[in-house]
Amino acid sequence: MSALEEVLIGECKADAVVQTRIDEIIAGRFACREFCDAPVPRRTIEQILRVARFAPSGANIQPWHVYVLAGAAKYRVSAALLEAHETSSDEHVSEYKYYASDLPDRYLRRRQEFGRLFYGSLGIAQADVEARSYQTAKNYTFFGAPVGLIVTIDRRLEIGSWLDLGMFVQNVMLAAAGRGLQSCPQETFSKYHQILRSLLSIPEEQMVVCGISIGRAKVSTMDRLMPRAEVDEFATFVGFEA
Ligand SMILES: Cc1cc2nc3c(=O)[nH]c(=O)nc-3n(C[C@H](O)[C@H](O)[C@H](O)COP(=O)(O)O)c2cc1C
Repeated sequence: MSALEEVLIGECKADAVVQTRIDEIIAGRFACREFCDAPVPRRTIEQILRVARFAPSGANIQPWHVYVLAGAAKYRVSAALLEAHETSSDEHVSEYKYYASDLPDRYLRRRQEFGRLFYGSLGIAQADVEARSYQTAKNYTFFGAPVGLIVTIDRRLEIGSWLDLGMFVQNVMLAAAGRGLQSCPQETFSKYHQILRSLLSIPEEQMVVCGISIGRAKVSTMDRLMPRAEVDEFATFVGFEA
């Protein structure tokens, strides 16, 4: 074997290792809802954000903004939202609509399956409104994670920029996973945008899109709960040989 061939084979093997590692990180990320309270240093979050900012965005406008909360600041936010959840939940509503009111059948079925799997895993009957509300409340403690992010976007931007924001959020979660940390994206924070705005001095033009809890998972990645549709259910291949 020539020296060049050896180098090329070596590079292919290195590429395969990197590819496998990336695949593992993507497939190993899951919505974690139980964290250890082991602290995550500011430096680690800075590293995560430094790499996450390489998310693509239309015309490179980079429409994301994050408020990174830890310690007493995170506690204050949690306390205020928990109180609102308990005492005035009906008075709060998100500034944007996450789900279509009339979910087409395919998505409705998946949402119902999510409910069965999720509440089933917690031993909560779907009709048990009180237990479900108690579980929802855990969102506002960032599920016990030491770091919570509040993600906002400029309301003057269009739907395309929300695509960009989604890529950024995924990058944050993958960069965290690559460091042995898990995360949970949480749209439920958007409901309490007024409280968050006042506590974090979020400017009027910014809309609260979601939160992200980040920390060490109490459960292992082997506990992934949510299945995915097979590729042939969502991909249409055109022009490939049979
Ligand atoms: C934008 C977004 C918002 C979400 N909001 C919440 C939330 O408010 N609370 C929660 O517990 N999970 C939330 N999730 C997590 C989803 O339920 C979870 O990603 C989905 O069930 C698939 O599970 P997996 O991420 O573990 O694969 C959200 C996910 C996304 C992408």
